[in-house]
Amino acid sequence: MKRILSGIQPTADSLHLGNYLGAVKQWVELQEGNDAFYCIVDLHALTIETDPAILRRRTLAAAAQLIAIGLDPKKCTLFVQSHLSEHNQLGWIFECITGFGEASRMTQFKDKSAKSGSDRTVVGLFTYPILQAADILLYQANSVPVGEDQRQHIELTRDLAQRFNAKYGPVFTIPDAHIIKSAAKINDLQDPNSKMSKSAASNSGVIDILDSSDVNAKKIKSAVTDTGKDVKFDEKNKPGISNLLTIHSALSGKSITSLENEFAGKGYGDFKGAVAEVVTSFFAPVKARTEELLKDEQSLLSILEEGSAKAREVAAKTLKKTYDALGLVPGSQLKG
Ligand code: TYM
Repeated sequence: MKRILSGIQPTADSLHLGNYLGAVKQWVELQEGNDAFYCIVDLHALTIETDPAILRRRTLAAAAQLIAIGLDPKKCTLFVQSHLSEHNQLGWIFECITGFGEASRMTQFKDKSAKSGSDRTVVGLFTYPILQAADILLYQANSVPVGEDQRQHIELTRDLAQRFNAKYGPVFTIPDAHIIKSAAKINDLQDPNSKMSKSAASNSGVIDILDSSDVNAKKIKSAVTDTGKDVKFDEKNKPGISNLLTIHSALSGKSITSLENEFAGKGYGDFKGAVAEVVTSFFAPVKARTEELLKDEQSLLSILEEGSAKAREVAAKTLKKTYDALGLVPGSQLKG
């Protein structure tokens, strides 16, 4: 069986359509026939200052949404990163074999730190991709389902694993990024040349899974398009329409060509109405199920606790192998 690992940050009240189509949709598919581990990366979320009550609420809401959308805790291991100290322990080891220049070249770090300035950029943001590498390598993952924006972090993870193995012996599996080209980058509805993101300046181009159908339908109907009339996939000249075609196709399972044929001779209004229908009919039951799950916090917490216990079995083994390979003298915690 292939080992799968991926993670999501609890940094917003709701997952958005980009998270779902770029990553979580694949998570649901890959829980069948694979040994899948999915992690709510709350320690990564600390790189953005958050009120404690909000972080706690978002962590539980992320778990509820992932289950509502199709993750089955009987088929996959769903857990919270901070429940396992192994992530930080392995993170430190990788910090000691990552070059300062190498970490400085991570584009997400460069973009985010350029926005805030160096005095307001925390060191955790700089080491973020190294903790991410630890998340992946602790579980000996073969495959990491993510959106396009994570490609560079997975490359770094592969480099670190190869570097460690070459120096200290074959401890880590080298993972591949699992990126579905057609949905790897869902764009903002108001700014269709930029990625849909929870940190967008305005929420008007972001489809949140937990928003009401009315709000989401309105956002889709006011999505920015070009002045033409043809529903055609052309990312360069028609980024707005192309983004909507990608969204419809990924949710409905219809090919882009069949959608182009279906909407030939019809206006953008009809097409946007159809996209709104596909999106809202998919997310309305997810929202209802999430609300239902959040009413029983105790059950959610016990699902996460069971997940963490299963995760620990794998993580502790990898950490022991790593410490042994490095020549760290085993203490009582890691003996056996
Ligand atoms: P996060 O929480 O920012 O995003 C979660 C997943 O959603 C994908 N994604 C998108 N895909 C397509 N179009 C979009 N507009 C879009 N926006 C977000 C992201 O690519 C991601 O797959 N660094 C990770 C969290 C992480 C992680 C890990 C992932 C920590 N440790 C280990 C994999 C393995 C992140 O930024 O997630």
